[in-house]
Amino acid sequence: MKLKQIYLDALKNGYALGAFNFVNLESMTAILNSAQKLGTPVIVAVSESGFKYMGFEFLKGLIESARKTYSVDFFVHLDHGKTLEMCKQAIDCGFDSVMIDGSALPLEQNIALTKSVVDYAHKFGVQVEGELGKLKGVEDDTCSNEHLFTDPVEAKMFVEQTGVDSLAVAIGTSHGVNKFSGEANIRIDILKQIEHAIPNTPLVLHGASSVPQEICKELIALGAQLKDAKGVPEEILAQVSKNNHIVKINVDSDIRLATTLAVRKCLTNKPSEIDMRKYLGEAKNNIETLVENKIKNVFNTKTNNN
Ligand code: G3H
Ligand code: 13P
Ligand code: ZN
Repeated sequence: MKLKQIYLDALKNGYALGAFNFVNLESMTAILNSAQKLGTPVIVAVSESGFKYMGFEFLKGLIESARKTYSVDFFVHLDHGKTLEMCKQAIDCGFDSVMIDGSALPLEQNIALTKSVVDYAHKFGVQVEGELGKLKGVEDDTCSNEHLFTDPVEAKMFVEQTGVDSLAVAIGTSHGVNKFSGEANIRIDILKQIEHAIPNTPLVLHGASSVPQEICKELIALGAQLKDAKGVPEEILAQVSKNNHIVKINVDSDIRLATTLAVRKCLTNKPSEIDMRKYLGEAKNNIETLVENKIKNVFNTKTNNN
């Protein structure tokens, strides 16, 4: 199935796809192994810095190799592309979907930039995700302010004027491991208003790592420095996957935590270990377990056949 059809199916049938960030062979294949095992579609995402880290040619090779290796539906997506040029590069590299993140720009400029990407990407059958509203940055540990949330009226105008295939919304999540100073405050009321304004638009939730406390505790016991790390509770993610129009849920920080725990544990338990295949192999196992749990127990992702 094409990503567009899966988004619409997810919208209608109350589930979401995980969009998991990868930065190397281990993280990419771990995510794909989990999806293959479960028979569920998945999105593997690359940030601009991930793109630069892997490099155009190696990344292109990874994508081509994965297409030959895996039979499950998977989609390669550019995460937080900031320019038309970056989106063009991703399309040349074989991506199925790009995000153009103009959310830091004034509305009119965000619309113009996003429309330029849509006009280009659609010629290649590539999906485009836009963003409206602002998520807090990793360093910004102040509480969300009302004016940062996606405005439903603007959302309608944005979708109509740009022709985006999906829209990332700001409803109280943030990137990184320190998401809330107190209780998680996800504005389902705002999400519902957005859904009312643009009922046919698939929506995307960024900053959706749940920051598993058991992983954090183990990491801290092994010497990691993590202060007040708190994520989006899995019940909320399950709820928005099932009952709302969220069809894509972005996870990066949880993968970083699972990876770091495996490496720390491996090297602590066996200080003589110098074979990177051992600790990166453990990291891969941890990512697989994490991704499998999200797909099966949280996002309720359906296989293509049901
Ligand atoms: O949304 C942001 C992602 O977590 C990517 O972060 O640029 O460090 O790869 P990165
Ligand atoms: P997290 O930092 O919560 O994993 O968010 C990732 C994300 O939104 C990538 O676009
Ligand atoms: Zn994001």
